[in-house]
Amino acid sequence: MRKRIVIGRGTPAYTLRGAGLALTLSLATLSFARGPAFAQGVNTAPPPLLLGAAWYPEQWPESRWDADLQLMEDAHLHVARVGEFAWSTIEPEEGHYDLDWLERAVRLAEKHHIAVVIGTPTDAPPAWLTAAHPETLRIDATGRPAEHGSRRQFNYASPEYRKFCADIAGQLARRFGHDPGVIGWQIGNEYTDESFDPATRLQFQAWLKRKYGTLDALNRAWVTAYWSQTYYRWEEIPLPSAGGNPGLLLDHRRFVSETWRDFQQVQIDVIRKYADPRQFITTNIGGLGWSDNWDHYEITRPLDLASWDDYVGEGHLNVARNAAMHDFAHGWKRENFWVMETQPGSVNWAPVNTTLDAGETRAMAWQAIGHGADAVLYWQWRDALNGQEQYHGAIVGPDGAPLPIYSEISRIGSEFERAADALRGTRPEAQVALLVSYDSRWAIDFQPHNRNYDQLDVLLGYYRPLRDQQLTVDIVSADSSLDNYKLVFAPSLNVISQDLAAHLLTYVQQGGHLVLGPRSGMKDEHNSLNTQRQPGPLAAPLGGRVEQYYALDGVVPVSGTPGSGTASLWAEQISTSAPDVAVLLRYGKSNGWLDDRPAMITRGVGKGRITYLGAVLDPDLMRKVVAWATSDAHLVPEFPEVPTGVEVCRRVDAGRTVFVLINHGAAVAHVALPSAMSDVLHDNSRHVTSVDLAPQDVAVLESNAR
Ligand code: GLA
Repeated sequence: MRKRIVIGRGTPAYTLRGAGLALTLSLATLSFARGPAFAQGVNTAPPPLLLGAAWYPEQWPESRWDADLQLMEDAHLHVARVGEFAWSTIEPEEGHYDLDWLERAVRLAEKHHIAVVIGTPTDAPPAWLTAAHPETLRIDATGRPAEHGSRRQFNYASPEYRKFCADIAGQLARRFGHDPGVIGWQIGNEYTDESFDPATRLQFQAWLKRKYGTLDALNRAWVTAYWSQTYYRWEEIPLPSAGGNPGLLLDHRRFVSETWRDFQQVQIDVIRKYADPRQFITTNIGGLGWSDNWDHYEITRPLDLASWDDYVGEGHLNVARNAAMHDFAHGWKRENFWVMETQPGSVNWAPVNTTLDAGETRAMAWQAIGHGADAVLYWQWRDALNGQEQYHGAIVGPDGAPLPIYSEISRIGSEFERAADALRGTRPEAQVALLVSYDSRWAIDFQPHNRNYDQLDVLLGYYRPLRDQQLTVDIVSADSSLDNYKLVFAPSLNVISQDLAAHLLTYVQQGGHLVLGPRSGMKDEHNSLNTQRQPGPLAAPLGGRVEQYYALDGVVPVSGTPGSGTASLWAEQISTSAPDVAVLLRYGKSNGWLDDRPAMITRGVGKGRITYLGAVLDPDLMRKVVAWATSDAHLVPEFPEVPTGVEVCRRVDAGRTVFVLINHGAAVAHVALPSAMSDVLHDNSRHVTSVDLAPQDVAVLESNAR
């Protein structure tokens, strides 16, 4: 069979297939994920769109590898992540390395046009290591050392452990740093648990000493006169394992973030020393994307590429939540990212490990691409015959033959090949952003005050109506540059230091519209209460402040210019102090304190506007509030109205736009397009003015307009 594959703008290549043989021609011009392109070093940038899987050759007889890689190639998979748990195979004894098998695996993958990302195996130290060096074992919050037999049993702060990590990463980088079949590196795997051992405690105390200089400064910042917490010697400061002073807790989270960052940097340095610059370095960020053990901005800053692990777990794709996670990942480096792991149908760790419906895995893959992913990798290719994850979803079965999901994944792969050319160089571009900050997330989570106040849900309350207006949304760190945005929402910006306030005020004065949500500006950078009422340093420019906050166990009526509805979970009584402040929403009759008081105010400041919304509103009123803000900021939908259930994602490059449309709904959707566009997945040369999408169906549409 002769099949034409479009592999790059104007660089077609032809693949001859038959009897399991694939021979690629036109090698010199290849720019898609064709192995020989890497082999010849013709193309140094990672290909524009990749589908792949985690592959563990060390778990299988070498005689099986070729069959697996052939099945991958047939399914249009062009990247495999290998090695990230293979320490005992790579270094079976201390100082004795065996990398030949890995090299043979990389060569064989290359033969099948599959590029390789090597994971350093530092998430799973071998037994010889922790037995001989017990100080490398993590101690949990109850003081118990971790044991061999699972993974993540290492102590992230241990200099001895980091030395072993540097050694093995160095061995790998020396061997594969110039290997044309290797396109990148993943450091460790889903950084997870910190350690509470005495040596890490000493490091924390030294970190605090560097930060504060004197105990007086620390005692002042944490207000340790409270409950006689005053520290007289650095050695008295605990590693908080079960609550504590909010200043101590916040600094500990920062210390944990920096300690993971330093753990990672040791490996970045050694890989960079030996590896070609064309090989990217990343780490896969887990925890359903929203994990808050450490600061994702801190960890991704030194990396070349951000990647995360996108799992649904039980049930079905929560469209807005998952989309927001992608946008959050996109915001870590404000660049396109990879989905380094996602489920081929099901997982093994949810309460009930349901499987995604037929078609849902494809919809999910395209959602990732629509929001800025350039690669999607399944975890995993084939389950290990034994080990803790025997029940996890996979692409081929224990017999080595394709499982039912294989054909859907193969379809995604062939679509990625077809769309790679159109999507090359494109990225999401937003005019509206949601601001997040780890300080604020941690500060609220230490003391939620209302156990039902879920910051992600509150954020999604803003995100959903923006997406329903077909707007691309960025989710970015509050301290990042806001120049590109006409409108920014800060839903729960609890910690606002003087510096952050100045940054936000500059944005407003230069013409931006900042909408602060409930709980904003209550704390300073030490997690101490601001001595100005909320929103702290922004109260003066706002011309108003929060007189008192209330955790709610019922609903409170709210009404005003945008419309009427209810508040729940949280409500703040707001006052105004300047004549030019407009009250947009007021509370109705409730607890007496809130009755008839402002719930939302706004004021023009400089060339821009600052608004404060002091309550969590019901979805309908939230939609109206967001509509008021987007219309005030002159934001126009990027696509005309689409039927309910259809998600529109937009990626742009100079002079052209690619829309990814996904029908998450249960009925066929007819979508009229704003202009004629080429239908990338079907017939590129055909321009269409409408598309009909069956449930779970996807259209990729390219327009020459921006
Ligand atoms: C995480 C890990 C993988 C695997 C999957 C299973 O994301 O990184 O090694 O355990 O979970 O869902």
